[in-house]
Amino acid sequence: MEHRVIDDPQVVQKKMIAVRQLGKLIGVVPTMGALHEGHLSLVRQAKRDTDFVVVTIFVNPTQFAPHEDFDQYPRTLERDLELLQELDVDLIFTPTNETMYPAGYDTQVEVIELAKRFEGASRPTHYRGVTTVVLKLLNITLADVAFFGQKDYQQCCVIKKMATDLNLPVIITVCPTVREPNGLAMSSRNRYLAPEERTQVLVLSQSLTMAQELIDNGERATVKICRKMRELIETSPLAKIDYIAIVDSVTLEELTEIPACRKNHSSGDISRAVALLAVRFGSTRLIDNAMLI
Ligand code: PAJ
Repeated sequence: MEHRVIDDPQVVQKKMIAVRQLGKLIGVVPTMGALHEGHLSLVRQAKRDTDFVVVTIFVNPTQFAPHEDFDQYPRTLERDLELLQELDVDLIFTPTNETMYPAGYDTQVEVIELAKRFEGASRPTHYRGVTTVVLKLLNITLADVAFFGQKDYQQCCVIKKMATDLNLPVIITVCPTVREPNGLAMSSRNRYLAPEERTQVLVLSQSLTMAQELIDNGERATVKICRKMRELIETSPLAKIDYIAIVDSVTLEELTEIPACRKNHSSGDISRAVALLAVRFGSTRLIDNAMLI
């Protein structure tokens, strides 16, 4: 196993050139470690869809603002390697800050409009950090397919946009959100939650289920659906809502009505409605989303 864990970007890139020459389809799963079932579901999908799977583990400093949780972010490398060994991944890339951003590093990649709203509004430099590191990881691993979780819905949209706009030769595959049996979307940050918060956060997934039920019962007006979601979330005394919105699944523009499915001509993706939310419980900020049909 140890020989499959490489921290040097140049060594990885050289190895991947050789893998590519063998004609293998390369899959990459970028992560920040502290792996849970959500991450592992992406790895399993990558194993199904590609011939050579690289998992990257890197807590990327540039996507955290100075006041955010970079220092406290969970780092569980040994356990992560054990979990990945069980899944038999081909290569684990564990770069360091020094090799990813050596002294004099001076380049950023930025998706502009799509990255401004929702998460970007509370975290203005976040997506610039994400797109820059993801492009570097794609270039180092030479991936044909990159796997991301729907859990971070806007992140998927921003990365897809970068791939389209910069003509990247990569397919972006979005995998479903993995949830705890009680509905809570799995997240490395869930471990920050205090016991009384753990029960209160269930209102998030409940509000998304309720939104779909309202639509199933004929409601099309998004203001009404969002208001009901807000009311349900506010029954939890610790919840502080950052945003609740129902948006177009491709452009992230806010919708006034739940539309019928239609094709988005610029991206070729199907446009649907998606409910996005971000809510704080104490010092922990959680996001969740659901496609509404
Ligand atoms: P991280 O939060 O570690 O997540 C890595 C990948 O796992 C992301 O694509 C994320 O959407 C996915 N993921 C997390 N929780 C999930 C869940 N419950 N179900 C399904 N997928 C889930 O997202 C990042 O890291 C970083 O921004 C990164 C893309 C690695 C760039 O640094």
